[in-house]
Amino acid sequence: MTLLDEARNIRERAYAPYSGFKVGAAIRARSGRVYTGVNVENASYPEGTCAEAGAIAAMVAGGDTEIAEVAVIADCPDPVPPCGGCRQRIAEFAKGDVPITMATVAGATLTRRLDELLPGAFVSAHMAG
Ligand code: THU
Repeated sequence: MTLLDEARNIRERAYAPYSGFKVGAAIRARSGRVYTGVNVENASYPEGTCAEAGAIAAMVAGGDTEIAEVAVIADCPDPVPPCGGCRQRIAEFAKGDVPITMATVAGATLTRRLDELLPGAFVSAHMAG
């Protein structure tokens, strides 16, 4: 199964009763292990979390901290782009050349490097004295 297939399958478990917009994400770590996540909304809207955030949390809990590849999918007209916050979350664990595949359930895909989606990312090195 491809990484995008993993994202597509897990998306069905998204909890999105407020937006109705289900998102699935899958991350392949450098170890080769795959972690998945879905968006989890909340009646207190700002407490909802994105699919990518869920996949990252699963990855860290699983013992991995280096992202090799990301896939994200939703039912939208164009391949779903990770939100700004999720680009930053991915940048914490991924180098600029990491490919991020965005997709629609209808079958469209678009792959971009992280540094194309988040040029000039703020990273920990910026806090060095
Ligand atoms: N969402 C994600 O899960 N990932 C993104 O990168 C974009 C937005 C979710 C959050 C919310 O549950 C729904 O999509 C609508 O914004």
